[in-house]
Amino acid sequence: EESKKIVIKMDYNLPQAKQIKIRDSTSNRGQRVVVCGWVHRHRVQGKDLMFIWLRDGTGFLQCVLTGQMCHTYNAVTLQLESTVSLYGTLKEVPAGKTAPGGHELQVDYWELIGAAPGGDEAITNKISAEASPDLLYDQRHLVIRGDTASAVLRLRHATLRGFRAFFDKKGLYEVTPPLMVQTQVEGGSTLFHFQYYGEEAYLTQSSQLYLETCLPALGDVYCITESFRAEKSHTRRHLAEYTHIEAELAFITFNDLLDFLEDMVCSVVDFVLASKEAPYFKELHKDFVPPKRPFRRMDYSDGIKWLNDNGIKKEDGSDYVFGDDIPEAPERKMTDAIGEPIMFCRFPVEIKSFYMKRDPKDTKLTESVDVLIPNVGEIVGGSMRISDLAELLAAYKREGIDPSPYYWFTDQRKYGTCEHGGFGLGLERFLAWMLNRYTVRDCCLYPRFPGRAQP
Ligand code: 4AD
Repeated sequence: EESKKIVIKMDYNLPQAKQIKIRDSTSNRGQRVVVCGWVHRHRVQGKDLMFIWLRDGTGFLQCVLTGQMCHTYNAVTLQLESTVSLYGTLKEVPAGKTAPGGHELQVDYWELIGAAPGGDEAITNKISAEASPDLLYDQRHLVIRGDTASAVLRLRHATLRGFRAFFDKKGLYEVTPPLMVQTQVEGGSTLFHFQYYGEEAYLTQSSQLYLETCLPALGDVYCITESFRAEKSHTRRHLAEYTHIEAELAFITFNDLLDFLEDMVCSVVDFVLASKEAPYFKELHKDFVPPKRPFRRMDYSDGIKWLNDNGIKKEDGSDYVFGDDIPEAPERKMTDAIGEPIMFCRFPVEIKSFYMKRDPKDTKLTESVDVLIPNVGEIVGGSMRISDLAELLAAYKREGIDPSPYYWFTDQRKYGTCEHGGFGLGLERFLAWMLNRYTVRDCCLYPRFPGRAQP
């Protein structure tokens, strides 16, 4: 009650404060500044001293409040996550003390902008470490303020920049294909259907077919957009909506495609480790070791042999045989045992997508590749594409696909075909690997998976 009567006033005789972001603290040492942000932590020490660790997204700043400034109603009731503006002088921290950036703000005046609740509603109750994963996904809009989740989002940003930098260096154009489509790419079972002005349409599973149409217009191209999969499986590597990084390259061989993939994965890792976000690895995966080149290249048929030699059996106890789709669990067992990235190549035609080119040396096989990574499994799916019109028409037929909505795709084989190939990489899986996260759900902003479409 006493504190309600206490007011503090700005001293207008002081130099005018310049508003800054925390990242610019060093260049403003010795200056009077105003910094706005969220109360990340705070501590009261005795009667006349209070520390606030302020967060503004660009960094953290230790702020020191003294005397009457600690006695106001807003000061004694201050809760975490409240927003404040703090006026004061930036000083180097005294010798022997540490603080983020090595400086602190000696506050001479402050204002509360938005008070956050305490008690049951306090942020610490909303996102407590004991809460179940499901409750935490309900509160993800608050969880992302925390050190771990925000570190993942920052490194996600660096990774996206890494991919764009790599594609740019290789001379690819970025395009943004539509996400509302009327053709499938990866089979009917994972399509999200919706009504589009009275017509049947889907959310895209992959932008690959559109990228192929861009080759004659722009040359090599890429896109980074969402793909959607109505997966029924609740696994730690499946999302219903994920960020798909896809590229398509003209006049290449299968080997060129494999080399490109290896170069891309290694270059992006190097980019991220050299980025200004790299220090956030400490929070997440401090022992991360970049993969070594060259990646191991292994044919599907040798993979089947590896499973048999190592006693990995099917669910019914029988051996894997040529033609089997290798499910997630045995695939991961193999990858974890080998302990390094594998380019798993040349899958049989029957278990792969309709558009894949056959291996000229063995037409039972496709020129296809999955990049497998320890702890996560498949992070990339790619292949050479059918370049012959008659072969494409036969593939539609074999897969029971009505060719009419694909007329624009078919035209690519009619109006100047070319040997070409490409791939799709799931950004969240790449991040789960690099940042050592248990699930892809923690590698995106607001995950979408069965039973969850909010926040
Ligand atoms: O192997 P997929 O299905 O291949 C394609 O979609 C090709 N059309 C891509 C292309 O060649 N342009 O998917 C490619 C990658 C997978 O390796 C995986 O990393 C990711 O997309 N992915 C998923 N990530 C999260 N949740 C899911 N449900 C995913 N489905 C695929």
